[in-house]
Amino acid sequence: MSLLSFVYSQLFVEPPIPDHDFSGQTFVITGGNTGLGLEAARHLIRLKASRIILGVRSMEKGAEAIKLLRGGMGDTSDACSLDMFELDMEKYSSVQIFAKSVATLGRVDGVLLNAGKVTQDFYLAEGNESTLTVNVTATFLLAILLLPILRQTAIETGSSPRLSIVTSDRHVESNLPEWKESNTFAALNDPNRAIMDKRYHVSKLLQILMARNLAQLLGDVQERANQIIVNMLTPGMCKSGLTKDLRGLFGAQIAVMDYLLARSTEVGARTLIAALAQGAESHGKYMNDGRVQESALSSFVRSEAGTLAAAKVWEELMSQLEHVQPDIRAIVCQKD
Ligand SMILES: NC(=O)c1ccc[n+]([C@@H]2O[C@H](COP(=O)([O-])OP(=O)(O)OC[C@H]3O[C@@H](n4cnc5c(N)ncnc54)[C@H](OP(=O)(O)O)[C@@H]3O)[C@@H](O)[C@H]2O)c1
Repeated sequence: MSLLSFVYSQLFVEPPIPDHDFSGQTFVITGGNTGLGLEAARHLIRLKASRIILGVRSMEKGAEAIKLLRGGMGDTSDACSLDMFELDMEKYSSVQIFAKSVATLGRVDGVLLNAGKVTQDFYLAEGNESTLTVNVTATFLLAILLLPILRQTAIETGSSPRLSIVTSDRHVESNLPEWKESNTFAALNDPNRAIMDKRYHVSKLLQILMARNLAQLLGDVQERANQIIVNMLTPGMCKSGLTKDLRGLFGAQIAVMDYLLARSTEVGARTLIAALAQGAESHGKYMNDGRVQESALSSFVRSEAGTLAAAKVWEELMSQLEHVQPDIRAIVCQKD
């Protein structure tokens, strides 16, 4: 996506208000206590979802969010069961406990992997730079751990549950030169080489590469009814708490862009709902402005190098996650 297309989208395209009917369906939203996740929950309540689970790292903030949802929506919210499970994506053990709790729900029709962070401070979490852990490795650990309950839902309801990953149009800022190194994560985890003002972009590019790879491994949904649909989306630049701690020139640039271009959080959240409502044609695809638009992906992602990079980094990701969840590859490959 060129800078011009980005600015055009921000200023002149307003994704439509979702009108899908989610009656009887259960959803999980990570990072659901604020920002886009919270607004997505508000849309889902309006669209008659039966149950929403917010993944929150602070139970106090989660309780506040549920109060806000209940308070702001009157009777509409009474028909929807709202709950929260603790989730700290800087800790794999928390991701594993969260996934086990979600498995007890018995039915999950859609997951918004929305929790994400941007920071200029380099520190490690679970052996990786923390942005990579939260946005990439823990996100895909969770994605994979949720596959069994999504598969079960597909079989029991005869539907195609959605696994929607909230990425970013800013992935275009990186071509991941580290993918050619013997160990890409090791290169990215070197504090002497990390350019933290660019790290968020790298993490969002990795999310897209990993999501495409996962979708490919799960197979062609269009050929097989009632399969999990994995799609990814950018909400565009939106008002939220995401960039509040950024400092220096980078922080100032983002603040100016935010002032001039950002969508409201509610409008941005429409794109998350659009991904949950999208059909099999969105499997493995990228959504921009609330619709499938692969041309908005960077040319690197769409190139042969991008496909090779995705496969190589996926292998590294699996090798890392095997230490945490030894059967991780088997979960991905499990057939129904
Ligand atoms: N806003 C934008 O312009 C924009 C553009 C493109 C993509 N996105 C993506 O949209 C998603 C939502 O972001 P947002 O804009 O709504 O930002 P936000 O208001 O900062 O919300 C981020 C959410 O992620 C949670 N989170 C952060 N670190 C976490 C961790 N270690 N464990 C569990 N949860 C964690 C936050 O929890 P706390 O409240 O506890 O911090 C919060 O609920 C992110 O993936 C972001 O990359 C946003």
